[in-house]
Amino acid sequence: MPVIRAGHPRDLAEVAAIQASSPEAAHWDAADYLQYDFRVCLDQGRVAAFLVARRVAPDESELLNLVVAPEFRRKGLARALLQELLAAPATPGQAEACPTRRSSLYLEVRESNQAARNLYKSMGFQEVNIRQEYYQAPPEAAIVMKFHSC
Ligand SMILES: CC(C)(COP(=O)(O)OP(=O)(O)OC[C@H]1O[C@@H](n2cnc3c(N)ncnc32)[C@H](O)[C@@H]1OP(=O)(O)O)[C@@H](O)C(=O)NCCC(=O)NCCS
Repeated sequence: MPVIRAGHPRDLAEVAAIQASSPEAAHWDAADYLQYDFRVCLDQGRVAAFLVARRVAPDESELLNLVVAPEFRRKGLARALLQELLAAPATPGQAEACPTRRSSLYLEVRESNQAARNLYKSMGFQEVNIRQEYYQAPPEAAIVMKFHSC
């Protein structure tokens, strides 16, 4: 049974290895993730996936990275990590303010990354914009997606 918890410094080597195995993912220095909302998903006794997000405004967050190790894909781990993130109120007390106050989660995804676009769409994200030539190596457009919640 997968377990999701906050990421720790001891997870960074496994997180860096997962990131290195996934060319579609954003590639950051894994140590930088510790300053953000950094969550890992453990399966079969190891880090199998991770998610990183940051708050950009009281009611707005941005997904910085979401990667599942190739051998753990199509088991629902990305969906589980996103569900946990979306379930957490953007600010303390916001749950009580629902439904009058809404929070948004934004992300960018490579236009060709159909697996990720399917995942986000299946969870209720909407495609709201396209940024031409957003990515390099290889150059590609980004689809901006947005999720609205209470
Ligand atoms: C995209 C990614 C995070 C999905 O992780 P995952 O754990 O395999 O996804 P899940 O098992 O939770 O799948 C949830 C849904 O996403 C969609 N999906 C996931 N992988 C897919 C694929 N290869 N092809 C088509 N749809 C896919 C499906 O709708 C799936 O639901 P289903 O299994 O009931 O059909 C994973 O493939 C990955 O790490 N890719 C490389 C990094 C990346 O692209 N990150 C996103 C950057 S924006």
